[in-house]
Amino acid sequence: MTHARQRPIQVVAHRGASEEAPEHTLAAYRKAIEDGADALECDVRLTADGHLVCVHDRRVNRTSNGRGAVSALELSDLAALDFGSWKSRDASGRPRVEEPDWEHRPEDREATSVLTLERLLKLVCDAGRRVELAIETKHPTRWAGQVEERLLLLLKRFGLDAPTAAEDSPVRVMSFSARSLHRVRAASPTLPTVHLTQFVSPRLRDGRLPVGVRIAGPSIRIVRGHPACIERLKQSGHQVHVWTVNEPEDVELCVRLGVDAIITNRPRAVLDQLGR
Ligand code: G3P
Ligand code: CA
Repeated sequence: MTHARQRPIQVVAHRGASEEAPEHTLAAYRKAIEDGADALECDVRLTADGHLVCVHDRRVNRTSNGRGAVSALELSDLAALDFGSWKSRDASGRPRVEEPDWEHRPEDREATSVLTLERLLKLVCDAGRRVELAIETKHPTRWAGQVEERLLLLLKRFGLDAPTAAEDSPVRVMSFSARSLHRVRAASPTLPTVHLTQFVSPRLRDGRLPVGVRIAGPSIRIVRGHPACIERLKQSGHQVHVWTVNEPEDVELCVRLGVDAIITNRPRAVLDQLGR
């Protein structure tokens, strides 16, 4: 079955334009905005001194020239690291991306420094057009509410914590943790939340989400393997935001099923495929 969609499918840049540029850097997000992405996805973690930074892994080893857990490092420690060079060459020195549209320029340090959520919010606010932000809380249980608390305080500073209506909000909070989403909704009931999942629970199979959540965030594997589940979610009135959709045939499937957002490492390629 093909579902009617109220709004055009949204193209969300996963960790920025992360196929080409180093994920979670200003360089990757600037490129995503240039590429025409409708929204940006980012993961957030707390540093040892309480700053929210955009880093996917628990440790910085993969995406920087440093070592250690984000939670054990202070912002000043992270600021000394280079989060860009790893993307240019692999361990054997070969370029990772052939003919990248993004070039590592060491003189533009900010572009590949650790990215705070505050800086990313500023980028979005200064974009000159509407660019939405999908913020994922990582390992929120460990911090007993601190991630959400800091997040909401920061959003408040930008006037983004309490939209008048969920559907108008340029920011949404995503998590694999229903508890994290619950904390966000308890403090800010109109901020939209997205329940991320990579497994098909009986609840999801029935097209249901945790109480209060309106947006489902299934992996593309779920969409491929259980399209009926996506149809049920849509029939129940939920939005569906799918990650991480990089292959043209998966984009096609998402369009056919009427999903609301495609989260991708290659926003320009997906926009091209959608004729935008
Ligand atoms: O957008 C959701 C997706 O990012 C979840 O997986 O591991 O890439 O954060 P991960
Ligand atoms: Ca993520």
